Amino acid sequence: MTIEVAATTSVPATTATDVAMSVTGLTAWYGGTAAVRDVSIEFAVHQITAIIGPSGCGKSTLLRCLNRMHEVVKHARVEGQVLLDGRDIYAKNVDPAEIRERVGMVFQRPNPFPTMSIWDNVGVGPKLGGAHGSELSDISEWALKKAGLWDEVRDKLRTPAISLSGGQQQRLCIARCIAVRPDVILMDEPCSALDPVATLRIEDLMRELAREYTVIIVTHNMHQAARVSDFTAFMLSEDGQGGHMVEFADTDTIFTAPADQRTEAYVTGRFG
Ligand SMILES: Nc1ncnc2c1ncn2[C@@H]1O[C@H](COP(=O)(O)OP(=O)(O)OP(=O)(O)O)[C@@H](O)[C@H]1O
Ligand SMILES: [Mg+2]
Repeated sequence: MTIEVAATTSVPATTATDVAMSVTGLTAWYGGTAAVRDVSIEFAVHQITAIIGPSGCGKSTLLRCLNRMHEVVKHARVEGQVLLDGRDIYAKNVDPAEIRERVGMVFQRPNPFPTMSIWDNVGVGPKLGGAHGSELSDISEWALKKAGLWDEVRDKLRTPAISLSGGQQQRLCIARCIAVRPDVILMDEPCSALDPVATLRIEDLMRELAREYTVIIVTHNMHQAARVSDFTAFMLSEDGQGGHMVEFADTDTIFTAPADQRTEAYVTGRFG
């Protein structure tokens, strides 16, 4: 398989000056089993970082540790440090709800609130945050425009969100996510339920969003990782002790000259 790497404005991981999130020695457990083992990584501000690796290596778990969703699972716990803008998100005085707002998440299957209209889906977060009236309308319209959906839905804002196509629903979920103005957007295989046209649409949107947000995406699609991301992290679970970070570098390096032969085997499709 030949992977074409897009010409991006990436800078090498070692020279990235601004760090949005910094992870040090992160181990994530489900009961007595570690799913992620001793991962350290820095996510650069306004860049797209892709996390790749075979099924079960802990990509989704790592993502959920970045916005304190891992701990929602019974008997799940986290060791290590996660900093958001230099602040420890697991510190005792930190409200997990605030972290989940600042670090938003988009899931594999579009999950709009099924009983709500398009308009109400986007407004639900800002409303909880106290917005109302024209302020609420302005935020909702802004978010729908930002997510590239406004022109397609402006005449049917009150119709149920589930009447939209899969790709439109995913853009609606992105609008819902950015409506609360997060700093970081986590995306867990956001295109795996979409057709190629809708996929490219979301990829364009990711690049657009990266102007203002830090984007972290999990993907099984090597072409997608190469096309959209500035940095790529390759994880592997080799010994049943939890997924670890094999290699992390700028995307160009990972796909054209990886340092580790396990990375090369994976990105060229020889395993996983
Ligand atoms: N809620 C859970 N309870 C117990 N174990 C879990 C739970 N969720 C995930 N795991 C286990 O943690 C490990 C990592 O799972 P995770 O979903 O993070 O992997 P992944 O890399 O995202 O895989 P995929 O590419 O298939 O989505 C797996 O062994 C999985 O079985
Ligand atoms: Mg996963």
